[in-house]
Amino acid sequence: MRTIWFLTGNIGKLKEATYHLQPLGYTVRQLIVKEGALIEPQADTLEEVAQSKIAQALSHLPGGEQSEDMILVEDAGLFIEALNGFPGVYSAYALKTIGNNGILRLLQHLQSQDTVQCAQLRSAEFQAVAALWMNGKILYGNGKCPGWIALESSEGEGFGFDPVFTPNDLDSDGEPLPHGEYGEKSTHGKTFGALSLEEKQAYSHRSRALNDLLRQLPSS
Ligand code: IMP
Repeated sequence: MRTIWFLTGNIGKLKEATYHLQPLGYTVRQLIVKEGALIEPQADTLEEVAQSKIAQALSHLPGGEQSEDMILVEDAGLFIEALNGFPGVYSAYALKTIGNNGILRLLQHLQSQDTVQCAQLRSAEFQAVAALWMNGKILYGNGKCPGWIALESSEGEGFGFDPVFTPNDLDSDGEPLPHGEYGEKSTHGKTFGALSLEEKQAYSHRSRALNDLLRQLPSS
């Protein structure tokens, strides 16, 4: 079994990656870097952030750069259409400062009795980039999850923006449909926060980014 060291402090992300990679024969372990030893890069794109994280993680890889092990980093953001893509690459900062309630307040004026119109007004998309370092090379996977910002926050399992994000329905191939179209798979208006980890995977930007990566990986 090859080991993939996932550089993340987020247990929710670790669980999601393990869910995908373990059945394929990879052991996923958390790469823990001492507080303050990792600089959260501020860049314009998720790819640049991921690349910088890989470069920093390399010096912490057990066994060093000659190791057969791999390093996984993942970077995601929530891009809200009415806010010109904000918070995007600033998502972690926005969550820490204004939080989900702040996001709801920023969109307070965007409401409609018509649910399709409401979803369009509050349209948002999660984007994720997963980057895997192996034998000196970096592979990138991309994933998106279109949806909208709910009118209120919901309690549940997830993390981050999960309580305020509702994904669009999926067609029979598991691909996202436009706002308001009913699909083979639907959360029926529920947010990510109200779904179980397993249910979230069908929609998740991270699982799409990981699957995109997996398509490029040799089987273990
Ligand atoms: P990160 O930089 O990839 O950790 O993500 C930026 C911010 O987006 C963090 O505050 C995460 O909590 C949030 N985020 C990333 N992915 C998700 C998700 O699947 N659900 C909810 N929030 C997320």
